Amino acid sequence: MTPTIRIGLAGLGRMGRIHAASLSGRCPSARLACVFDASEGAAAQVGEQFGVPVAPSYEDMLADEAIDAVAIATPTGTHAELVTRASRAGKHVFCEKPISLDRQATLGAIEAARAAGVTFQVGFHRRFDPDWAAAADRIRAGELGDVYLFRTSLRDMNPPDPAFLAGAGGFFADVTIHDLDTARWMVGEIVEVTAHGAALSDPGFADIGDIDTAVVVLRFENGALGVIDNSRAAGYGYECSTEVMGRNATVRIDHPQYRNYEWRTPGAASHGPPRDFEQRFPDAYAAELESFAQCVRDGTPARVTGHDALAAFDLARAAGESWRWGRTVLVEPQRTEAGVIYTVKQESR
Ligand SMILES: NC(=O)c1ccc[n+]([C@@H]2O[C@H](COP(=O)([O-])OP(=O)(O)OC[C@H]3O[C@@H](n4cnc5c(N)ncnc54)[C@H](O)[C@@H]3O)[C@@H](O)[C@H]2O)c1
Repeated sequence: MTPTIRIGLAGLGRMGRIHAASLSGRCPSARLACVFDASEGAAAQVGEQFGVPVAPSYEDMLADEAIDAVAIATPTGTHAELVTRASRAGKHVFCEKPISLDRQATLGAIEAARAAGVTFQVGFHRRFDPDWAAAADRIRAGELGDVYLFRTSLRDMNPPDPAFLAGAGGFFADVTIHDLDTARWMVGEIVEVTAHGAALSDPGFADIGDIDTAVVVLRFENGALGVIDNSRAAGYGYECSTEVMGRNATVRIDHPQYRNYEWRTPGAASHGPPRDFEQRFPDAYAAELESFAQCVRDGTPARVTGHDALAAFDLARAAGESWRWGRTVLVEPQRTEAGVIYTVKQESR
């Protein structure tokens, strides 16, 4: 019989609850073994909902020999330490993005997982969405030909809680980071980042030195250009769409059919757009954990590595620098055995 990977889940807020649901029947190679949250109430509620024990502490979860791996969906500022402790306890680790808001801590967590020899995957779920994955496969197979243009949008309907925003590390590290990962994955490495940002929906964003709207222009190493647009307050719904234009073909991923009907009235047809990432990406969130469990079971490398997360984080920092200083930031991707590492070139224009 194929072994099932037993996963302990830490952090049971918006994202943790989605992972709890995925691990409770949507991932054939994994199952939810226990949960932990700093809030006893949240832990008790999720434990009861999914019929799994609540670990008294993270330490207890790590000491439990019946657990093969942990999934971390706590606030970003806690990830690096929790990844490091899990790795040292010999547990495989799935961690939400980003690994940390601090570059040194990011490197420390990656090194801890490497030294322990555990599987380490970071939560860039779009790579596992069936539509994006199919498009990326055809691009990689050469069907699109030379890529000319990459365009992607990630827009939230409504902003998250102020408490979440305070610890999220700013718009580029929290939101744009997904698009920067998608850009690298679908088109290739990046050499130029130019970002514009604005706080338009609520003065509270400017008060904390953050923005709610951004446009980021990319130049890829292969000469292609890219445009990312992001919003915290799109109002009409949650949108995540991508288009890649090439010499032979163009692929567009749009219009999620999460409801397979249209509402038709005289002269108009409508379908409800998704409200948030939970409605838009149930398949992708389950598929990323299924892939993680298969990699743990088979001893194969994770499909999104710590170095992928570091690269997206460094590009997000470059976007932040570009926005703050009002200039293009030139970056240099260096290929190492462990993965691609970005450095910011001194000269920018
Ligand atoms: N991949 C995605 O699409 C996506 C979407 C949303 C959030 N995220 C990421 O997921 C992470 C969590 O975001 P969220 O929106 O679920 O946050 P949240 O605030 O809704 O939930 C965080 C939970 O962690 C708990 N917690 C805090 N400190 C803890 C600790 N030290 N140990 C255990 N539990 C602790 C809190 O009590 C809370 O229940 C963030 O890093 C965020 O960037 C990813």
